[in-house]
Amino acid sequence: MKSLLKSLVEIPAPPGHEKELRDFVREEIETMADEIRVDSMGNLIVRKGEVREGGKRIMIASHLDEIGLIATHIDKRGFIRFTNMGGVYPSYLLGGRVRFLDGTRGVIDVEGSGKRKKVPGLDKMYIDIGAENENQCSIDIGDVAVFDRPWLDLGKRVVSKALDDRVGVAVMVETLRKVHQSPKRTPHESWFVFSNQEEVGLRGAGPAAYQLEPDIGLAIDVTRTGDTPQGVKMDVSLGEGPAIKIRDKGMLSHPEVVDWMIDVARKHKISCQREVLERGTTDAASIQLTRGGVPSGCLSIPCRYVHSPSEMVDWDDVQQAAILLEKLLFEPFLGS
Ligand code: CO
Ligand code: ZN
Repeated sequence: MKSLLKSLVEIPAPPGHEKELRDFVREEIETMADEIRVDSMGNLIVRKGEVREGGKRIMIASHLDEIGLIATHIDKRGFIRFTNMGGVYPSYLLGGRVRFLDGTRGVIDVEGSGKRKKVPGLDKMYIDIGAENENQCSIDIGDVAVFDRPWLDLGKRVVSKALDDRVGVAVMVETLRKVHQSPKRTPHESWFVFSNQEEVGLRGAGPAAYQLEPDIGLAIDVTRTGDTPQGVKMDVSLGEGPAIKIRDKGMLSHPEVVDWMIDVARKHKISCQREVLERGTTDAASIQLTRGGVPSGCLSIPCRYVHSPSEMVDWDDVQQAAILLEKLLFEPFLGS
């Protein structure tokens, strides 16, 4: 799964530009799917199994897209002004490098370069691709870029851009593989949705849920941690297992979904953490509010430095998340 994750993070997929990554994932899973399609939003939707005795229709979503930048203006000297696609923190940009979808690379600096003490807003920053003037600049208004930073394997922990949410994508691909290879059949009809445009407002998952009319919705995504020096007060740490979301800024998980997740984790002796996140949300929030409402929850992978070019996860957490998701799909949902 590690080499899969490395391949996934290296394919750029800012919001609205998920096709290359979607094609890669499709190729990876095509032979394991009972049904596969891409909807008009660009979500990749895969069915595995059908509802059997005691089973439910379960939608599981992780998003393909990553945060990015979009060019808004190019000046006479070829400097590119930009704005954000999703939650981009100015402090993570200065001195960093970005890559546009055509492969053009550039560095980011700020007006008054070298003189500033405080981190200014994005409107004071620019991308320098080494162009000598406007005519030489190969980038157009509306072109998009992502962080350009190599994958770093620290052994138990890995570091990369876009672990949010390629780590969820990897967990879903791995789970689909396990379900496919299992001699047992699951009681559920599982719909694996590789959603898009999550980072700009959970835009893909809602329409997918509307089509699928699931009984239960689950997102697989990263969550923050409280385990760094003077970090936020939050009882989630790297290496203590996947987290079961109880609440985030956009959703209260359905209590029966939370109980199901906790019970199954206990039964299979998978250690996990209870998550209350004060900022951010996931696709589960938009699934939950689809049609007449969908009981929803989220399986989170603890991640430090979320939305930076160097997000960090613990490899055991990732593997345990895949095991827990697999177990969930083989256990009945006992809620109403
Ligand atoms: Co995110
Ligand atoms: Zn995410």
